[in-house]
Amino acid sequence: MSRVYNFSAGPAVLPEEVLQECADEMLDYRGCGMSVMEMSHRSAMFQQIIDEAEADLRTLMGIPANYKVLFLQGGAHQQFAAIPLNLCKLPGASGKADYINTGMWSKKALAEAKRFIDAQEVASSADETFTYIPDCSDLPIREDADYVYICENNTIYGTVYHELPNTKGKILVSDVSSMFLSQPHDVERYGVIYGGVQKNIGPAGLAITVVREDLVPEGDLADVPIMMQWRPQVDAGSLYNTPNCWDIYVCGKVFKLLLKQGGLEAMRERNVAKAQILYDFIDESSLFKGTVRKEDRSLMNVPFVTGDKELDAEFVKASKAAGLENLKGHRSVGGMRASIYNAMPVEGVEALVAFMKDFEAKH
Ligand SMILES: Cc1ncc(COP(=O)(O)O)c(C=O)c1O
Repeated sequence: MSRVYNFSAGPAVLPEEVLQECADEMLDYRGCGMSVMEMSHRSAMFQQIIDEAEADLRTLMGIPANYKVLFLQGGAHQQFAAIPLNLCKLPGASGKADYINTGMWSKKALAEAKRFIDAQEVASSADETFTYIPDCSDLPIREDADYVYICENNTIYGTVYHELPNTKGKILVSDVSSMFLSQPHDVERYGVIYGGVQKNIGPAGLAITVVREDLVPEGDLADVPIMMQWRPQVDAGSLYNTPNCWDIYVCGKVFKLLLKQGGLEAMRERNVAKAQILYDFIDESSLFKGTVRKEDRSLMNVPFVTGDKELDAEFVKASKAAGLENLKGHRSVGGMRASIYNAMPVEGVEALVAFMKDFEAKH
């Protein structure tokens, strides 16, 4: 067996020990004679899987008791709609929300919200192709906005908020898809913190939404599709309908592994050290350049370019041949992007830097 170093932005590398455990349990999960993919989501065995997954996630993130944890289908995109559809149905809601635009994922979330509510952009870094995080200390947030929305780590552009925006007392909603569990999250600073799991946690198709309980509307929202409503899923423990059982099971294994590895503070230390190796090399390189303002650099997604499209293409091709996969930048940015999520070992980053040095020496 030969596994490559997979720098994909998502679906992304998963921890080898988790994949191995899944393989070992594939045909016969703990003596029940079937795989997790085949068992009823109403069985005691699956209930234990989802209960443990939630409990471990609560421990990892330090989720307070007044927050609900939801395992939901439809990925992050479904939450782009669910967020306005739920938060703007709370008693006294104005149906207004303010969005900070730091790239494609916040832009898409805003466009989705506009279908249903009065959503507007209050800051943007579009003027410099999203290579920085705008100053969010004094934004023109509306007095009656129901919430302020950010995409905290911008997968495509490689920026991250090192400081959360001043929301002027409004609820903060954050998409943490590409930084989920990569560092501690101060859950109480958010009304909703959510993300797709396919970068740092598990297989694609599942979103985890952590929402303060008073932000989940009561009762049935007659004009909101049932699968967009958080309340039925809260009441059913994320089992309103048949969930993606397999995904929840894999995520649960990743949570246990992260706890064993020392939790999110240990993840942050590892991720800082890993990213430093790559950024240090990029900063001293005469061929490769980072595309993001230094103070806004992501620990997870590292875009870089040579400045020559043909050379970039040659780099991507040659790196693939060397077992370094998926380094091509997003089509909207070009160049290269290395996604170095939790499960990317330091050896993978070292191998990338060694390859970059060698490529530079030859060009
Ligand atoms: C930050 C961020 N938000 C949202 C999404 C969309 O996620 P999904 O495909 O699960 O809807 C992505 C990318 O996949 C992303 O990187």
